[in-house]
Amino acid sequence: MTSEGIERLIRSELVTLGSYVASKSAQTLAREIEVPVESIIKLDANENPYGCSPRVSQALATYPYLNIYPDSEQIELRKLLEGYTGVGVEHIMASNGSDQLIDLILHLFVGQGDEVINCIPTFDIFRFGTEMRGGTLVEVRRDENFAVNVNAVKAAITKKTKIILLATPNNPTGTIMPPPDILEIVDTGVPVLVDEAYAEFSGETVTQLVSQYNNLMVLRTFSKWAGLAGLRIGYGIFPPKITDFLFRIKLPYNVNVAALVAVRESLKDIDYLLGRVKAIVAERERLFEQLKKLKWLKPFPSRANFIFCTVLNGKAGEIQQKLQNKGILVRYFDKPLLRNAIRIGVGKPEHTDALIKALHEVGGEISG
Ligand SMILES: Cc1ncc(COP(=O)(O)O)c(C=O)c1O
Repeated sequence: MTSEGIERLIRSELVTLGSYVASKSAQTLAREIEVPVESIIKLDANENPYGCSPRVSQALATYPYLNIYPDSEQIELRKLLEGYTGVGVEHIMASNGSDQLIDLILHLFVGQGDEVINCIPTFDIFRFGTEMRGGTLVEVRRDENFAVNVNAVKAAITKKTKIILLATPNNPTGTIMPPPDILEIVDTGVPVLVDEAYAEFSGETVTQLVSQYNNLMVLRTFSKWAGLAGLRIGYGIFPPKITDFLFRIKLPYNVNVAALVAVRESLKDIDYLLGRVKAIVAERERLFEQLKKLKWLKPFPSRANFIFCTVLNGKAGEIQQKLQNKGILVRYFDKPLLRNAIRIGVGKPEHTDALIKALHEVGGEISG
C-alpha cells in the first residue's frame, strides 16, 4: 500500500492535527553548539533548576523490584497523595505526568462535535487533546492582562458544552484565576477542569473544594515543585464517580514504580522541597525586576515559576535564537494572541545573572 493509501485509513481529524511542540533537550542544544551539556541553561520548559530531592536518587539506586509491574490500583500512591493533599483516596487518581490526565479526561467527556470551552491563550495541550478527539474548541479570549472573562465563559456555554478548561496559574502567562471566579463557573453545573500544575508556587488551590461539587476536577503534578518532570508523575482530585470512570479507561500500569518511589521520598523531604519552591518564588521576583529594566521587553507579573514577556522592539524568534546560540534556552511564541513573546523559566540566581547579561548583549545587537 502507498503512504497516501495509509492516510485514507487514518482518522480524518488526525491527518490534519497540529501537533504539540515540545521543548528542545539540553543534550540536543549542547551537540548543536558544541558545548558541554552541563553548561546549558535550560529555561524553556518550566522545570525545577534545583532538581529533585536527593532522597529520590538514593532510593532509586537501590530499588530492588524493577521487574515487577506497579500496582494498577495505586493504593500506596493514592494514600501518600491523600496525606499530601488532605483529600480522601476516593477522589484521587495518579498518572504518567498530569498531561496524561488531561488526555484521559478529554477522552472521558469529549467526542466528535462536542464543545470544549478553552480560555486562550493557554496551555496548548488543551487544544491538542480536544482536536485529537474531533471535539470543537470554543475559544474565549482572556483580557489584556490574561485574566479569564467569567461572563464570557458563561455566555459561551451551549447544550453541546462538555467541559470547561481552566489553568491557574495559566501557562504561558503566569496569571492566576481567583477561586471565587472559578466557583462562579463551577456553579453553572458544567464539568470544570482546573489545571493547577504550578499551585505550589502560587499558594492558591481549590483542591479542598472538590468534595463539595460533582463537576469540579483539579490537576496537580510533581514535575515542577518536586523536580520530577523526567519521571512523569501527576495526579488529579475528582468527584468519586469521575475517579471510578477514569480508573475504568486508564491503561493498567500508567504510573511506573520509579515514580512511586519518587513520590514516597519527596513527601519525606517536603520541607527541603518547599524551601526550594520559596527560593524559586524569590528569584522570580528578582528576575521580574531585572526584566522590567530592559526597555524592549514587557514582563507580565507571574504566580508560577516562569515569566511571560512580550517583545516591544525586535523579533521574539530572533531573540530566542540568539540566546540559544549562547547556550540559554527559552520558549518563544509568535501566533495569534501570543504575538512576539518569550517565556522564561525561573532558574537559580546564577542563571538569572547569565540570562540578564545575555539579554543586554542581545538588546545591544537589536538596537545597534
Ligand atoms: C498548565 C500545565 N498543565 C500541565 C502540564 C503538564 O505537566 P506534567 O505532565 O509534567 O505533569 C504543564 C507542563 O508544562 C502545564 O504547564
